[in-house]
Amino acid sequence: MADTKEKILITSALPYANGPLHFGHIAGAYLPADCYARFERLKGSDVLYVCGSDEHGVAITLSAEMAGRTPREHVDHFHSINTKLFETLELSFDHYSRTTWEGHVKPSHQYFTDLLNNGFIEEKVTDQLYSEEDEKFLADRYVLGTCPFCAYEEARGDECGSCGQSYEAIDLKNPRSKITGASLQRKATKHWFLLLDKFKDKLTAWIDSKNWKPNVVNFVKSYIDELRPRAITRDMNWGIPVPLEDAEGKVLYVWFEAPIGYISSSQEWAIQKGDPDLWKQYWCDEKTKLVHFIGKDNIPFHAVIFPAMTMGQNQAYKLVDDLPANEFYKLEGKQFSKSDAWYIDIDDFFSKYSADQIRYAIAANAPETSDSEFTWKDFQNRCNADLLGKYGNLANRVLVFAHKQCGGKVPELLDLEEMDREFQAKIQELTEAIATAFSQYHLRRACRLIMELAQAGNVYFNDREPWKDSKSEEKRSRMETTIALCLECLKTLALVSSPVIPESAQKVWEFLGFESKLQSLNWEQVLGTKLVSGQELKRPEILFKKIEDEQVEEELTKLQSLSKKQEEAKEIAIEPIKDLITFDDFCRVDLRVGQVLEAEEVSKSKKLLKLRVDLGSEVRTIVSGIREFYQADKLSGSKVIVVANLKPAKIMGIESEGMILAGAFSDQLKLAGIQDLPPGATVS
Ligand code: MF3
Ligand code: ZN
Repeated sequence: MADTKEKILITSALPYANGPLHFGHIAGAYLPADCYARFERLKGSDVLYVCGSDEHGVAITLSAEMAGRTPREHVDHFHSINTKLFETLELSFDHYSRTTWEGHVKPSHQYFTDLLNNGFIEEKVTDQLYSEEDEKFLADRYVLGTCPFCAYEEARGDECGSCGQSYEAIDLKNPRSKITGASLQRKATKHWFLLLDKFKDKLTAWIDSKNWKPNVVNFVKSYIDELRPRAITRDMNWGIPVPLEDAEGKVLYVWFEAPIGYISSSQEWAIQKGDPDLWKQYWCDEKTKLVHFIGKDNIPFHAVIFPAMTMGQNQAYKLVDDLPANEFYKLEGKQFSKSDAWYIDIDDFFSKYSADQIRYAIAANAPETSDSEFTWKDFQNRCNADLLGKYGNLANRVLVFAHKQCGGKVPELLDLEEMDREFQAKIQELTEAIATAFSQYHLRRACRLIMELAQAGNVYFNDREPWKDSKSEEKRSRMETTIALCLECLKTLALVSSPVIPESAQKVWEFLGFESKLQSLNWEQVLGTKLVSGQELKRPEILFKKIEDEQVEEELTKLQSLSKKQEEAKEIAIEPIKDLITFDDFCRVDLRVGQVLEAEEVSKSKKLLKLRVDLGSEVRTIVSGIREFYQADKLSGSKVIVVANLKPAKIMGIESEGMILAGAFSDQLKLAGIQDLPPGATVS
């Protein structure tokens, strides 16, 4: 028997252990996977659902440093916070691991070594930025410098915050450490590159065999077309060491080893099960179905790079079969953001609401085909109108009635009339549709159908008017049939809703007189076994609390006022005054009144305008980062102040001969100008 079960290996993207997770993450990669895993277990599939914390990489070391912790302390801190959240949300991982687990090293090394031996990894020496002071190479995110395009002095290591250009950190002028300010040198260093282009044909053929969503397939295909060798090692000491003799101080790039975490997590699970080879039954069996639940920003690594890495292994591991990639989930129209104080405090949330309430609200509005959002109004509505008004209402009224009129026992199902048969058929039809929706990752549809089922029960109860039948002896059997069918409906409802709202479903199950754990039962068996007449029912308790309007108002006000406070705090951050200069220093700057003759947008740049400016004695071309604040066609005629003796510089291929002055505060920018003097007038 055991061999005929379908094996399903389910993963949720490993979350970075460098910050608390929010409902946006939950909606993307965790809740949908959990509901699917729970459903497939009920269906009798042999499910292994794994995840773990992603604990290496520059994002981690940098945020640890900012927080004044060692990387170890930092990941321990967030691993524990996130594990707790997952528990509160009742995510049913078979195993949750972490990439700093020692057992993660071996499969990561295996992947590297196989790829190297099979000719898919090559070493190359390139120049990188090195800090003599720290005696280490610094990654992009640790570097600041002067933008090679616009001369902005606070430009980041990967792209300029002023002109928006992207570049390699090595191209910055005067590069320095973001942490210590120390200046950096170019220094040659060796790295290993994954020759992704060698997998193009194999990947293309493989992708063609998938019937994934067309937009995913098209995206992936063009991504494959563009594949080039990619560095998979870094100069740092936090991470998995490169398994070669001449690679001291080098670790595997985090995105190289993180997906291997799916395998190492399964291995750790197998060890804890007491059978260290058990993981192979999933990963090394072609018949296993592998499903990665991810947010859409993780598509390339799961649909292309990890599969390519796996194709280069000596051992034939499973490649992903299905890739439910979710869109973004926002909060009241904006991205969840801790730094903008636009988030929901998780501890506060769970002190007032239940896991099932948030699970249902997110699932019913999951970002499956387009972005969606959490709003307090929608949350209230899902909780009150659906969970309480339909689901809770059915459970309560049927059970209360059964206690009053049927002695608290399941009554006998006697002669069925047309209406009863229709109701039975409806239950069956909806149950099948719900199963299909779950199996195709259509969580929203499954939720809608679950509520349709509850509502069908309510409508049937109303239409049958059992309270009338209860009054006459000859109609009692009709009443009993009605209640027996309503209880059948509740039983079905408990089953089909348990992947989404496991706790409430279990309660309903127990109200019906069962003691077993619904999660451990089998879908078809539960459906196929009628309630036994005479089974003792329990008295129902309240399943869901009502959410009052005032509560929603309060939550909204809290959200808004927190983010406003944060904004104000940001705004009053006045730049400190720079070091003193002499009058002579100042006089070296030649400032002139200029008049804008014409302005046009610089193509491919969101920030830049190209201006022709009359300086009285000559006309200059000046490229300026003001496009977000000034419309090109409104500028001609205005007077500006020009730094007339600034060395010309090329900005996006255009020679800029000077600079115009502007004031900046928070997210505002205003040009400086003297309107009543002619072009060429000096300013000092
Ligand atoms: N930590 C990554 C993120 O949060 C996801 C890693 S998924 C894995 O975007 F496959 F690499 F594990
Ligand atoms: Zn720039």
